[in-house]
Amino acid sequence: MRKGEKIILLGIAAIVLTLMAKNALYQDDVNEEEKELPFFTTASTQLNRDAMAIYRKYQCKSCHSLWTVKDMMQTVPAPALDGIGSLRSREWLADYLAAAEPQKILSSRLKPEFRMPSYAAMPEQERATLVDYLASLKVKDWYLEDLKKSECKKLTGEAC
Ligand code: HEC
Repeated sequence: MRKGEKIILLGIAAIVLTLMAKNALYQDDVNEEEKELPFFTTASTQLNRDAMAIYRKYQCKSCHSLWTVKDMMQTVPAPALDGIGSLRSREWLADYLAAAEPQKILSSRLKPEFRMPSYAAMPEQERATLVDYLASLKVKDWYLEDLKKSECKKLTGEAC
């Protein structure tokens, strides 16, 4: 084989390899599901508005993050509430928010001041709205396992 031919063959090989690499990258791109935000809500605009007012009133944000928003000063390793409606049932959420001692339902590894407070004194209507909203916070199937792991890690402090 002459030198010139070798160079041409190498050139062709390089082009083929580049195309294959590009294709592999492109296939990652095509998997658009993976790029979307995994979290969504089924709440109506009205429920959204009502629930967020209650969420602000009780400052849930001082410990939890939701839609990746949390207080700048937030240092409490409380679980994020994104997708919580895919992890917990409506009944569980209602019981938890009504519990005099939430830690009897879900034990805590944190110092008392950082633990989930009791909202047993919250008016029924507000709790019902909040529960509806929390139950509407869903996660896409492809992210469910990852979410379970990160929630478990937050709750236990260990990789699960
Ligand atoms: C003082 C910090 C703090 C505040 C304020 C707070 N939480 Fe929590 N919350 C926690 C912690 C920490 C946990 C995890 C359990 C524990 O350690 O007690 C938790 C757990 C939860 C869970 C269960 C999460 C899971 O993974 O199952 C829900 C739901 C929840 N909180 C909702 C709320 C809502 C709604 C509000 C406002 C009304 C609120 N929290 C206010 C700290 C807080």
